[in-house]
Amino acid sequence: MTKTLPPHSAIRPLAVQDVDAIVEVSDKAFPPDQSATREKVLYRLQACPELCLGLFIRSYDAKDKAKNSDGEDDQLPHPTTSVISEKLVAVILATKMRSDLITKGSMGIPEGPDDEENGHKEDGNTVGVHAVCVDPEYQGKSIGSILMNDYVQRISTNGVASRIALIATDENAPFYEKLGFTNQGKSDCKYPPGVVWNDLYFDLSYN
Ligand SMILES: CC(C)(COP(=O)(O)OP(=O)(O)OC[C@H]1O[C@@H](n2cnc3c(N)ncnc32)[C@H](O)[C@@H]1OP(=O)(O)O)[C@@H](O)C(=O)NCCC(=O)NCCS
Repeated sequence: MTKTLPPHSAIRPLAVQDVDAIVEVSDKAFPPDQSATREKVLYRLQACPELCLGLFIRSYDAKDKAKNSDGEDDQLPHPTTSVISEKLVAVILATKMRSDLITKGSMGIPEGPDDEENGHKEDGNTVGVHAVCVDPEYQGKSIGSILMNDYVQRISTNGVASRIALIATDENAPFYEKLGFTNQGKSDCKYPPGVVWNDLYFDLSYN
């Protein structure tokens, strides 16, 4: 499989204004009982936007397209063109955790400022990835692996944490193992009922 992105792709941190697009991609990609609620997506975007990453396909103003030597529209946008729209096609949502592996609390929303168990913990040393999804129309084109590789690089380079952890079903675990994650076996996380998860982690190289 060729690991190249579609033309005009861009990877950038997600922000509160992306919430509707994130929910749309998540709802399309995940079964209903596994897709994050709008409330949880908003919480993560507010608590730790720097840990949430998206891959967009952008459209540029056609009038400004550069021409190649044959007078045809160039593949690359002219440096002065402006972005007129972006379509979100892949999403990573995460929080920081004090534990080494994903916990139920890390997936939740704190019930108040003193809630030690639930939600993002800024002093945590592990990034807990709670959602990785690609719009089904764009799956199988290396987008998920390119975004995830970029994410690992960013977390590593910025020294944000010493580990990235996530849970995945038996079906999805090989996707992460190919990216260098270690599969530690069955997770204690049991939500939603009936889904069996594996704990996976990636220890960052500077440790
Ligand atoms: C899982 C998901 C993120 C993968 O993204 P993608 O862009 O389709 O995957 P890629 O095209 O980058 O695939 C990379 C490699 O992983 C493999 N792969 C892709 N999806 C896989 C899956 N669900 N299970 C196992 N392997 C998978 C591919 O065959 C490919 O292998 P190759 O490099 O040997 O050819 C995407 O399919 C998705 O959004 N699925 C629905 C939501 C979901 O289940 N997310 C994971 C939650 S744990």
